[in-house]
Amino acid sequence: MPSDSLTITDNRTGKTYEAPIENGTIPAMALRQIKVAPDDFGIMSYDPAYMNTASCKSRITFINGEKGILNYRGYPIEQLAEKSDYLETAYLILNGELPNKEQHDKWADAIIHRTMIHEDAKDLISVFRYDAHPMGILLSTVGAFSTFYPESKQIHDPEVREVQIERLIAKIPTLAAFAYRHSMGLPYVYPDYELSYTANFLQMMFKKGERTYKVHPVLERVMDVLFILHADHEQNCSTSTMRAVGSSEADPYCAAAAAIGALYGPLHGGANEMVLRMLREIGKVENIPGYIQRVKAGDFRLMGFGHRVYKNYDPRARILRELAPEVFEVTGTNPMLDIAIELERIALEDDYFVSRNLYPNVDFYSGIIYQALGFPVAMFPVLFAIPRTAGWLAQWLEMLQDSDQRIARPRQVYIGYDERDYVSIGKRD
Ligand code: CMC
Repeated sequence: MPSDSLTITDNRTGKTYEAPIENGTIPAMALRQIKVAPDDFGIMSYDPAYMNTASCKSRITFINGEKGILNYRGYPIEQLAEKSDYLETAYLILNGELPNKEQHDKWADAIIHRTMIHEDAKDLISVFRYDAHPMGILLSTVGAFSTFYPESKQIHDPEVREVQIERLIAKIPTLAAFAYRHSMGLPYVYPDYELSYTANFLQMMFKKGERTYKVHPVLERVMDVLFILHADHEQNCSTSTMRAVGSSEADPYCAAAAAIGALYGPLHGGANEMVLRMLREIGKVENIPGYIQRVKAGDFRLMGFGHRVYKNYDPRARILRELAPEVFEVTGTNPMLDIAIELERIALEDDYFVSRNLYPNVDFYSGIIYQALGFPVAMFPVLFAIPRTAGWLAQWLEMLQDSDQRIARPRQVYIGYDERDYVSIGKRD
């Protein structure tokens, strides 16, 4: 009997079965051999919300939730946040290696020169209502790109794929900034090819009457760090959506639009917006204990706390907590930071949070920093979507090139009705 295997005894029949163990997993299909009769379907595993199911093998992002470790392609997030910039990290995530100088310059040049969007896409944004949420605008316009670039359907052509990847990474900050300016009734600011990815985004967002808008180098750097931290996070809700939609061979714009939809929810990318609303609701440090009591009573959750994978301090939250004072030195202080730090302190001493391993996640501090940078709360999930595009695309590429993958199609346990005959309306009770 091989030692790397699992022996399962079916107590219904007394038979034993072998399932190979590879990378700490058994193939779920190995359970199918376990039957009570030859025409039996075989055993399935029941795993709502994928609590213990690996849906793919991946080489992109490693997380150790118990120890609070996050690596992209083997590089610790702390080192990338300190030394890399977003575009370089995006290249790493997509290609598996850091670029050399020539590769970096070619990549950065290709991206910045694709930041302009078609005038029709701009017109599309302008027909949204003045109060449309920018995440809804982003989702719709990314989906609409499917019609602008019909060749993107050739998902098995590596050259076509490469162009779509560059387009999406390049254009998503432009769409995001235009969505914001539309909501403010401000004229759109076109991309500036002379600026870095993040400086260009900031000028498209905030340039008003100035002839040249100077982006503060500290804030440009902070944007890079925020984007690096959000670039990928393995098989979360939006990434799994990207893979699931991509598995039907839909083009990457349709798949990315679906991923944006998944990210929009308050339990995922919408959480940073909710954190800020929560801090505003708390209002002052004295109100924290009462607020925590209500969380413990189950009235609502403490937003920005807890994580499906991290059962320790989210390493991204740690980096942002340290970065926050640097930002405030430039932008001026924010009372929300004091409330956040005190809220964290009280929660981390409370048995409710300690016993459930609930620690601050990335969204706990990102919202406060975004606000200091001048972004309205409605833009927070959009600021998550921009950098996560690199991760979604890397995961999509990996899925397309993985011979184990098929169209995503989970099973269900049917607990519904026995088959019955149709009753005409006059004869129903
Ligand atoms: N506040 C209070 N209690 C919580 C919280 C929270 N934020 N999160 C989890 N719990 C409790 C939950 O009530 C449950 O308690 P009990 O065992 O008594 O029923 C226990 O902790 C386990 O919770 P769970 O819902 O089974 O955990 P999950 O892994 O399904 O949920 C989560 C993970 C992130 C959805 C959840 O922690 C949450 O809702 N957090 C607040 C929203 C948030 O900050 N989301 C951002 C996630 S990080 C960014 C991203 O990657 O998207």
